[in-house]
Amino acid sequence: MSLAAILPPPPAVRPVPGLRPVISFHGVSKTYPNGTQAIRDLDLAIYHGDFCFVVGASGSGKTTLVRLLIREEVATTGRIFIDGQETTRMPRRRLPKLRRKFGIVFQDYKLLPRLTVAQNVAFALRVTRPGQRHLREKVEETLWIVGLEDKLNKFPDELSGGEQQRVAIARALVHRPRIFLADEPTGNLDPDTSWGIVQLLLQINHRGTTVVMATHNREIVDLCRRRVIAIENGRVVRDEAEGAYLREGEATI
Ligand SMILES: Nc1ncnc2c1ncn2[C@@H]1O[C@H](COP(=O)(O)OP(=O)(O)O)[C@@H](O)[C@H]1O
Ligand SMILES: [Mg+2]
Repeated sequence: MSLAAILPPPPAVRPVPGLRPVISFHGVSKTYPNGTQAIRDLDLAIYHGDFCFVVGASGSGKTTLVRLLIREEVATTGRIFIDGQETTRMPRRRLPKLRRKFGIVFQDYKLLPRLTVAQNVAFALRVTRPGQRHLREKVEETLWIVGLEDKLNKFPDELSGGEQQRVAIARALVHRPRIFLADEPTGNLDPDTSWGIVQLLLQINHRGTTVVMATHNREIVDLCRRRVIAIENGRVVRDEAEGAYLREGEATI
């Protein structure tokens, strides 16, 4: 009998919260053409495997931050790195590859109404990875992860809001992104359903995906006690490892 057969397996090597962040912002500002300064001199580092909430009132700059990450908006000044690559000056032809690193969901689910659940998810995979093999297995496995394995052949309008958001999550997840972005994913959902969606995002994070969730859902942020990056008027005003929605002692609005 070999030694390997009698010794217990070595402990899994946990990635050290790294030397190199998966996302970093260096002095980033974004001014829209109409003069609105949405992000101001922002510095930020997010490491592989992090789960963080970006919180702030409506208009504070959360969505702009998300759009800068996927290079749907270009920073006016400063530099953004994803996986060590500077994206601020990346040529357009490299953007599809950059965007494949991300899975993204929004407040509205943006499902294609004439396609079934399985077809919505498969469609995303065909677009991001043409010629993908084992398409059906990947779609079914991903729908199983989000708990919708029994809804493959339903159409979006036959599903509840929470189920539709799960389909959107499956669609964002099917190409196995490194970074999962959720911009107000629970904005249209009741508290119980919202909590289910956040549990799912926590599970996705637990499987090794970095998750960034923009939200102004105070209850959820306070229940999770994860990293909280608070922004006000485009500036980071607080960044805490196990934070709450409001700073301790801060007035409730
Ligand atoms: N495309 C745009 N053009 C001009 N101003 C914009 C645009 N998008 C957002 N803004 C402005 O930028 C600021 C930040 O908006 P946004 O990033 O959407 O914040 P949040 O997601 O936190 O509500 C707001 O003042 C908003 O009106
Ligand atoms: Mg927003």
